[in-house]
Amino acid sequence: MLAIGSDHGGFELKNHVKKHLEDMGIAVKDFGVFSEESVDYPDCAKPVCEAVLSGECERGILLCGTGIGISIAANKYKGIRAALCSDVFSAKMSKEHNNANIICLGGRVTGRELAFMIVDAWMQAEFQGGRHADRIAKIHEIEK
Ligand code: RB5
Repeated sequence: MLAIGSDHGGFELKNHVKKHLEDMGIAVKDFGVFSEESVDYPDCAKPVCEAVLSGECERGILLCGTGIGISIAANKYKGIRAALCSDVFSAKMSKEHNNANIICLGGRVTGRELAFMIVDAWMQAEFQGGRHADRIAKIHEIEK
C-alpha cells in the first residue's frame, strides 16, 4: 500500500499521480486533501508519515505547491527519509542511495508527465545497501 497526501497546492497533481499509480495496479491510500481549499502543509504531512512509520503503508508520496514545505515537515518525523524530487535521476538515487520512504513533488513546479516519470523511477529503483546503509545509520544517530 502506498500513502499519498497533499495540501491545496499539490491537490491537482496528487489526483493525477494517484490515478497513474492505480492504473498500474498499485494500491493507494489517499489521505487528502480533497479540495483546493487552503490548508497548512504540516497537517497534510502528518497522516502520511504516520502511515509509513506504523507500517500501514510501505512508502508515501507528499505534494505541496513547491514540495519544499511538506518535505521539511515530513523530515521532522524520526525514520522518515523524504526526498524532494523534480528530476528522474534524483528520484532514482533517492531510493538507491538514500532509501527514501517518501518522495515529495511540487504541484506548481513539476508537470504531470514528468511527475509520472519521477514516481516510476523511484518505485522501480532498489536500495543498494552497503555503504549507503552505513550512512543512513548515521542519520538515525542524529535523530537520537
Ligand atoms: C501554499 O500556498 C504553499 O506555500 C505550499 O503549498 C508549499 O509550496 C509550501 O512549501
